[in-house]
Amino acid sequence: MKKMTELIESKLQEAFREAGLDESYGRVGLSNRPDLCEYQCNGCLSAAKVLHRNPLEMAGQVASVLKNSSDFESVEAVAPGFINIKLSKEALSFFVKQMSEEKKYGVEEEQPKTIIVDYGGANVAKPLHIGHLRSAIIGESIKRLGAYMGHNMIGDVHLGDWGLQMGLIIEMMPDHTVSIDELEKIYPAASAKAKEDPDFAERAHQKTLLLQSGDPECLKKWNQIMDVSLRDLKKNYEKLDVHFDLWNGESTVNDLIPGMIQNLIDKGLAYESDGALVVNVAEAEDKKEIPPCIVRKSDGAALYATSDLATLEQREELFKPDLYIYITDKRQAMHFVQVFRTARKASIVPENHSLVHIGFGTMNGKDGKPFKTRSGGVMRLEELISDTNEAVYNRITESRDITEEEARKTAEIVGLAAIKYGDLSNQASKDYIFDLDKFTAFEGNTGPYILYTIVRIKSIINKYRSAGGSAFTSADIRPSNSDSEKKLELELVRYNEVIENAWTELAPHKLCQYIYSVAEAFNSFYHEVKILSEPSDELKKSYLAKIELTMNVLLDCIHILGFEAPDKM
Ligand code: ARG
Repeated sequence: MKKMTELIESKLQEAFREAGLDESYGRVGLSNRPDLCEYQCNGCLSAAKVLHRNPLEMAGQVASVLKNSSDFESVEAVAPGFINIKLSKEALSFFVKQMSEEKKYGVEEEQPKTIIVDYGGANVAKPLHIGHLRSAIIGESIKRLGAYMGHNMIGDVHLGDWGLQMGLIIEMMPDHTVSIDELEKIYPAASAKAKEDPDFAERAHQKTLLLQSGDPECLKKWNQIMDVSLRDLKKNYEKLDVHFDLWNGESTVNDLIPGMIQNLIDKGLAYESDGALVVNVAEAEDKKEIPPCIVRKSDGAALYATSDLATLEQREELFKPDLYIYITDKRQAMHFVQVFRTARKASIVPENHSLVHIGFGTMNGKDGKPFKTRSGGVMRLEELISDTNEAVYNRITESRDITEEEARKTAEIVGLAAIKYGDLSNQASKDYIFDLDKFTAFEGNTGPYILYTIVRIKSIINKYRSAGGSAFTSADIRPSNSDSEKKLELELVRYNEVIENAWTELAPHKLCQYIYSVAEAFNSFYHEVKILSEPSDELKKSYLAKIELTMNVLLDCIHILGFEAPDKM
């Protein structure tokens, strides 16, 4: 389905032609003065510069062509040469009616591509912490957004399950089977010990090399560690409603590493530098220094970049993805520049397969420093979730009479929305402050507010139905009757454009901005217009059809963002 701005634009272009001007000046965008108009065209200002003519006069000529068009309530030329546009109520509601009849409310699927989203990135045997939370949340929503656009999305958790971290744990592992709690204590202890005890550090280092060369003893312990850790990780990701298609990790490609490195050598790309094997990836246009990509340490150990390169080789072999999206902390940006450039140089990834890294900022506490527990330790994900659920639970039980069980269940759903929306509503690359009070509030730009709006609409519709109201459909949609109703429609009709835009820019925060304005527009409409007590049945059904569309649009958006709405709140 065409986008509203495209439709308006085609009318404007026609008018420009009729006024003897080039149609390319007929570009239209949302108004940045919503108090004056709904859409605007600034083309006459650009035309004036080229043609040395008066912009206001040209705008007047274009506007007069559209004077009697049934599509517009008004088209006005205003100084210094803007064209201010308001849609007619009929045209706007007709679009709303059409979009409610479309699959995905007018969003058109793209030519399907195969896309790998590498996100989550948890490290085995270390508790899932806040740093991994952002990757999981952002990655899941990008994966869902891509799927909504019709793509074949493959999510890979790409675990950190290889390398020195595992050598350290193996060296300290007791002989009996360990629980996850025990396991999680081993890594910090081993890593601290390695700093003080050079012998221990050396033994851990040797264990790493042994593991990487397939030593059965080491592999046995490694498998035990994986077993315990994976069970715990799966449980935690499940709680976040985050789901992976592939549970691969650095270890998955261990066997591919020698061949991959040989290929780099054969191509004349990898050379020795201080005993290590490196690939030079600097380019003449670089504004800052890009150090060589180290693919093998002097002792023969593989590194982070090594397994990422081998993983690319494997993904090409298995999936030939058109696009790769990696989601990690932005401090890893250099790593990905090095890996991507090496992969291109070595033709591991062909030119027509794109590589994208989305680097996210830090989640900080109210003090502006990286988020910590109250006692100053690293916050575990489970703790963050339970604190959030508790805060939501308190708010729910404060305002409503509700059974304990229902309150707990609702708090879980709403709590997850609070965390995810709080994260996703910020541009990914920015740091943000995790503010429990703010994120769990039922008012303002929060997840709970969005859910509250959805629940409100659900309950209006349910009330209507249970009072025996007759069925309503999109055919009942009539032109709007009030400013607030028109405002709601103006928000609704942006839907296909917003989704497409959020996808092109891989920017879930644009979706959050959108649903917040939809929710606000709905709530002003709700406060101004009595929906269920409207005496005219015709009008009432028109309202209901519109608010149902509002709810459906919000539901699709929150699903893409990775959370769901409860029945009641
Ligand atoms: N395990 C890594 C970390 O904790 C993240 C992995 C990201 N994915 C990748 N292919 N490098 O930082």
